[in-house]
Amino acid sequence: MTNAISGFSKLSKAEKISWITKNYFNGDQKSSKLLQTYWNSDEQLQQLHDEFIENTISNYYLPLGVAPNFMINGQNYTIPMAIEESSVVAAASKAAKYWSARGGFKTTVLNTKKVGQVHFTYTGDKEVLTSFFQDILPIVYKEVQHITTNMEKRGGGILDIELRDKTQDIPHYYQLHCTFNTLDAMGANFINSCLEQFAKTLEERFEGDTRFRESKDKLNIIMSILSNYVPECIVRAEVSCPVNDLSERNIEGKEFAEKFVQAIRIAEVEPYRAVTHNKGIMNGVDAVILATGNDFRAVEAGIHAYAARNGSYSSLTGATIENDIFTFWIELPLALGTVGGLTKLHPLVKWCLQLLQNPSAQELMQIVAVAGLAQNFAAVKSLTTTGIQQGHMKMHLMNILNQHSATAQEKKAAVEHFKTTPVTHSAAVTFIENLRK
Ligand code: MEV
Repeated sequence: MTNAISGFSKLSKAEKISWITKNYFNGDQKSSKLLQTYWNSDEQLQQLHDEFIENTISNYYLPLGVAPNFMINGQNYTIPMAIEESSVVAAASKAAKYWSARGGFKTTVLNTKKVGQVHFTYTGDKEVLTSFFQDILPIVYKEVQHITTNMEKRGGGILDIELRDKTQDIPHYYQLHCTFNTLDAMGANFINSCLEQFAKTLEERFEGDTRFRESKDKLNIIMSILSNYVPECIVRAEVSCPVNDLSERNIEGKEFAEKFVQAIRIAEVEPYRAVTHNKGIMNGVDAVILATGNDFRAVEAGIHAYAARNGSYSSLTGATIENDIFTFWIELPLALGTVGGLTKLHPLVKWCLQLLQNPSAQELMQIVAVAGLAQNFAAVKSLTTTGIQQGHMKMHLMNILNQHSATAQEKKAAVEHFKTTPVTHSAAVTFIENLRK
């Protein structure tokens, strides 16, 4: 057992590493060397990364790949993807090319409202609170002006502040349910600052109000925080084409489309399938969210809540065949930013946004939705035709070879060999062992 340490955060990076090495790696210097291998030789760049978080000891790499040939609303994109899972980027690229030959992706932003709430308790009469709230509303707006002025100048700001009675759920529980337009910013800081100011005004005005001063009624602010659930910040992406255009060497377009629609129906009604189905969508979504410096935890939480909005966890995509036209779409709640946060700070994030032609937040929402839809198309297409393992194991081959420290020559021979032979873990290992005999 290792003793607890106090003042760890005050130690230098070298001291932190030395404490960890001594206490968790039996003083083995190889473990601290490994951390150093991942430091950047450019000290300024390393310092920038060190300062993103606390107690930084090294960098944790993820591969950054790109998927070209995405045609979105008639414009061509190469999409950056930061992800560790093999086959995801290949699948995205394949789907992009497939649909660019069939009219490309069409996208629309349906709404961009973001939400934040002040949660509080109030023990008195609801009617009195309601009239008090109406009276102080102009003051609430006035006292938050120092935070909202700049956002308003650019066309955003507070959209609405509503008093909600939640006493059915918890005794005395009320909220200010607030909506915002934060333009190209994800808006977390803006929203949280506004909410904390609303709470302050609410509390101060309550204390000074004659309606409450002489009564026993109490108002208690519990917390003020944005919501990562954004069902009114929605983007839709879609592909569609005549079913005949889906025909391939070994399958008729109509048969493929019907099987595909059936697979989507299963993900709509069966949560066990829906979770895996949506996980495949998130392969694409998260990879672009990470590459563009957005908060994938917020996006994940919001999207899965949305997938369960009707009371049962369901597919994020839908598909139909109508009049021999196959249509496949996705609707995603996405609160994203292309300014603020890491967007100007992290050099690779900046580069990825440049690659995407410096999109607005709304444009980025569309690109991310397309990445999710493409990923789902590729997965469901494989699942309903060849099965997933064939393609996946081909891509995974390099990981198996690396696990067995294959040389460049061995890798070349293995890739050649498995062009015509199915890849399995044991087949790949046997192949290397035979080569080395
Ligand atoms: C693997 O990362 C993702 C899939 O399982 C998605 C799916 O089943 O639709 C292939």
